[in-house]
Amino acid sequence: MAALVLSVSAAAQRTFVNIETANTQMVLGTDAKGQLLFLHYGAKIGRADQFEDWNSYRRTDYSTDPLAYPAQGGRFFNEPALAVKYHDTDQNTELVYGSQSVSEPKSGVKRYEVLLKDVKTKLEVKLIYMAYVKEDVIVANTEITNGGCKAITLDRYASSAINLRAGKYLLSHFYGSWAREMQIDREMLTHGVKAIENKQGVRTTHNENPSFMLSLDTESFSENDGEVIAGALAWSGNYRLAFQMDETNQVSVLCGINPDAAAYPLKKHETFTTPEMVWTYSLKGAGQATRNLHDWARNHCCYSQAEICPTLLNSWEGAYFDFDAKTLTDMMDDAKDMGLEMFVLDDGWFGNKYPRNNSKQGLGDWDINHEKLPEGISYLADYAHSKGLKFGIWIEPEMVSPKSELAEKHPEWVVSSKDRELTTTRSQWLLDLTNPKVQDFVFSIFDNTMQLAPGIDYIKWDCNRHVENFGSSYLDDQSKFYVDYIQGLYSVMRRIREKYPHVIVQSCSSGGGRVDFGALSLFDEVWTSDNTEGLSRVFIQYGTNMIYPACVTGSHVSAVPNHQSGNVTPMKFRFDIAAAGRLGMELQPKNMTEEEKTFARKAIESYKGYRDLVFGGDLYRLADPYDGQHYALMYVSKDRSRAVVFAYTIKYQSRTPIFDLRLAGLDADRRYKVTEQNVEKSCWWGSGKVFDGSFLMNHGLNPDMKKVYDSAIFLLEAE
Ligand code: DGJ
Repeated sequence: MAALVLSVSAAAQRTFVNIETANTQMVLGTDAKGQLLFLHYGAKIGRADQFEDWNSYRRTDYSTDPLAYPAQGGRFFNEPALAVKYHDTDQNTELVYGSQSVSEPKSGVKRYEVLLKDVKTKLEVKLIYMAYVKEDVIVANTEITNGGCKAITLDRYASSAINLRAGKYLLSHFYGSWAREMQIDREMLTHGVKAIENKQGVRTTHNENPSFMLSLDTESFSENDGEVIAGALAWSGNYRLAFQMDETNQVSVLCGINPDAAAYPLKKHETFTTPEMVWTYSLKGAGQATRNLHDWARNHCCYSQAEICPTLLNSWEGAYFDFDAKTLTDMMDDAKDMGLEMFVLDDGWFGNKYPRNNSKQGLGDWDINHEKLPEGISYLADYAHSKGLKFGIWIEPEMVSPKSELAEKHPEWVVSSKDRELTTTRSQWLLDLTNPKVQDFVFSIFDNTMQLAPGIDYIKWDCNRHVENFGSSYLDDQSKFYVDYIQGLYSVMRRIREKYPHVIVQSCSSGGGRVDFGALSLFDEVWTSDNTEGLSRVFIQYGTNMIYPACVTGSHVSAVPNHQSGNVTPMKFRFDIAAAGRLGMELQPKNMTEEEKTFARKAIESYKGYRDLVFGGDLYRLADPYDGQHYALMYVSKDRSRAVVFAYTIKYQSRTPIFDLRLAGLDADRRYKVTEQNVEKSCWWGSGKVFDGSFLMNHGLNPDMKKVYDSAIFLLEAE
C-alpha cells in the first residue's frame, strides 16, 4: 500500500484535496483560516488549483463558506456534521486542515485521508474518501479521535457531508412500511431542513431507506438525462440523512448515524469510526446513478458479489408452522420436479418445552422440536441433498420469546429499561447484542445450527421486531446502546463469515426491514419484502433496485389470493416479476394445478438461461410504474451481446394506447434475435426475428399488452 505522490497543489495559501473517478471529481480546499471547504462534487473540472483565488462572495463577518466536515462552533450555525461536548462543557469545535495522504489499496481504488484538528483541543478528525475509479463511486467516512483531552462526548458524528450548488433540487427517497417497502416519494427541496431518518434501532428500513437520489436543476425525475447525485449509508441501525437548503440556495447533505439518544462518549485516545456513506454522481440521469451503485456494490461491497444463487422453494407460506418431515420431503419432491435448486425450511422447527408451533413462543430455544421432527434436520438435509437440492434453514438469533427456556435462564440478556414496560412485538423481545456474552450466544446459534446436518447451504437470518424502551444491563452508559448493538451484530457476522465463508446468508427482517449496504457487506442477499403479490412487487422491486442490485434481492412466486394483499394475479405475472430478481417460490406446490406446474417448470428453466444477466447485467429502466399503464426494465450483459427485457401492464387505462417499448444499452450496430420466453404465442410480432440494436432502441417493440397483468419476458441474443 505505497503512498502515492499527491495530485495536490500546495501553491500560495490554499491546499487542495482532489478526489477523482473516471467521470467525476470532488474538490476540497483550505481557506485563509485553514478551514477545509467543500468546493465541488460533480463532473470533471480539471485542475483543483483553479480554485486558488476562489471567492464565494459571502459576507466574511457572517457565517462560513461550506465546510468539508462542518463542526458546531466558529462561525458555523447550520446543521453540523460534528458536535462535541468537552469535559468543561465547551461545545465549540473549529477544525483546520492538518495533512493528507493518498494510497492505492487495490487496483482501481484510491484512498484519500485528510487530517483535521481542532484549533484549541487535541481532537482530531480524519476524513476518509475511497474513490472507486471506474464505478464513479466515492465512499466517505470519518475517524474521530480524542487525541488527549479528558473524556468528551460526541453529540453528532456524521459520516460525510457534501455541499451542492444548483437552482433546483428534486429529492427522491424511499418510504414504506411492512409489506410495502421502498415506495418512492419525489419532492422539491425548499429552504430549511428535510431529514429522512429512522429510530427503530434494528429494523430500520421498512419506513424509510437510508438512501436517496437528488436530481439537480430540474423539477422532473429523468432516467437518462441530467445531473443526479445518489447516496446510501452503509449502516443497519438508526440513521439520519439531512438536506439543508440555506439562504444562498445551496444544499448541504449530511449523512450518518442518527444522533438522537446516541451521544457517544470518547475517552482519552479513543477513536470513533463512522459508517461509510456511498456517493455517486451521474450526468446521465438516475439510470446511470443506479448502474454506478450496482457496479460498485457487486465489485466492492456485497458479500456475494453477483454469484449465481440457486432458485429455491421456501416452506413459509406453503406450510407455516404446520408440518412434519413428510410435508417437507413432499415439498422437496415437488421443488425438484419443477426444477428448483434449493429447499429452505422456515420458522417452526425448534423448541421443546415451548414448541414453536406458532409465533408466540420458543424463540431462543434452538433445539430440534422432537415431536414434530423426530427424524432430525439431518434427515431433511440428506433428503434434499440426495435429490440434488441444496438445503437451507431459518433462524432468528437476535430474539427471545418471553415463553422460552432462554428467557427463564437469562432475563438479563433482554433489551429493557429498568422499571419500565417491557413491550413485546410479535410476542418477542430483543437480545442485547451490546453484551459480548450475548454476541457469543448469537454466534453459537448460527454455529450449532450449521452442525445440525452436514452441508447446510443457506441460512435465513430473520429479525422481527424493533427497539422500544431501550436499555442494556451490560452498558454503563445507555447512550451507547444503538451504536454498540449494530457493531455487536456486525462483529458476530464477521466471526460467522470467518468460519463459514461460503454459506449463503439472507438478511430478512419481516421482509425488507434490514436492506442497506452495511448488512449487504456481510449477508449475501435480502428478503426484499414479505409481500410477494405481483402488483405490489412491481413498486417494491422498482424502488429497491434503484439502489440495490437485483443479485441481492430475493423475490418469490407465491399463491393466490395473496396472503398479504388478497390480490389475485396470474401465475405468469407472478413469475415474470419474481424472475427480475433472485427467483424462488413460497407456496404449497401440492395446491398447484398440473397446468401451473408445467408453466413453472418452463419458467424456471428459462430463468436459468438468463439469470446471469439479472445478477450481473446493467439495469436500464424503460417504463416508470408511477407514470402510467406499464412497468418495464432490462438487464444487458457487460459485453452487450445478450439482454433480457421484462415488461408488465400494471393497470388498465384504455385499450387504445400502444405500448411503446424502446430498449436501451444495446450495441446499435449489432443484430439481436429477440425471443419471448414461456409463451406459445408471443405478444409481439417480432418474436423469433432478428433486429438491429438501433431499431430496438430507436423504434422499439410494440407488444400487445393492453390488459392489466399482461406481462412478457424477451431474451435478446446478438448474432
Ligand atoms: C418473517 C419473515 O419475513 C417471513 O419470511 C418468515 O420467515 C416469518 N418471519 C417466519 O416467522
